[in-house]
Amino acid sequence: MKFIIPVLFLFVGISSFVTMNSSQERDLAIVKDTLAADREKYILAFKDSLKGKETVLADSVFKNIKSLKGKSTEQLLSIMNNWGHALGVTCKFCHDVNNWASEKSRNHLRTREMIVMNDRLNRELLSQMKGFRQPVTMGCISCHNEMKEPPHDGLRPQGPRPRPEGGAAPNSGGAKN
Ligand code: HEC
Ligand code: HEC
Repeated sequence: MKFIIPVLFLFVGISSFVTMNSSQERDLAIVKDTLAADREKYILAFKDSLKGKETVLADSVFKNIKSLKGKSTEQLLSIMNNWGHALGVTCKFCHDVNNWASEKSRNHLRTREMIVMNDRLNRELLSQMKGFRQPVTMGCISCHNEMKEPPHDGLRPQGPRPRPEGGAAPNSGGAKN
């Protein structure tokens, strides 16, 4: 009879561990769905207002296109959604949704720097690697993997590293929050 109590404890322990894990997974799935739904809301609104102009150059419709010159409005919107997915964020991470052309968000400017870095990485380094089957390319998702800040070196269980006062990162080119 004595062994029943430890066995009972073990059972309760295991079952609560299992339910804890699956509820965490469920929470994560809900967060992801909400992010996707939030992005979709803005994408659909833009698609509605751009009916008939899908193949028109984005620069001829929007005010502040610098990095994505030559893309159509349809391509621009799909790139925006991909960036949101790659970083696990909504449009608000990089935009003031009441003024889409605004560069006030530091992440808007950082994204432009990331595009330059990513482009050079693909063109100048990855395409030159001899030991691999070409083409070798990387995109935002390769590093970010649905995280705002990819780990620099190994796991970062303590979360994002602290930023200097004022919110500007050392290499952000002076961009302010
Ligand atoms: C990771 C940052 C990031 C995310 C997330 C993002 N954007 Fe952007 N967005 C940018 C950057 C940077 C530009 C400027 C591109 C350029 O210079 O060509 C831009 C440009 C735009 C423009 C053109 C604005 C103008 O008037 O010039 C629109 C519209 C836009 N984004 C919509 C969206 C929507 C809708 C979402 C969400 C589905 C979104 N963006 C998510 C960074 C982002
Ligand atoms: C080779 C790896 C790599 C690639 C590819 C990459 N990033 Fe990054 N990104 C990083 C790293 C590392 C950081 C964190 C920098 C730091 O420590 O502040 C970062 C930071 C950012 C930030 C600032 C996030 C924050 O919370 O501070 C944005 C925005 C961003 N990346 C957007 C993009 C976009 C959009 C793309 C694709 C065009 C992209 N990145 C491709 C490695 C990468």
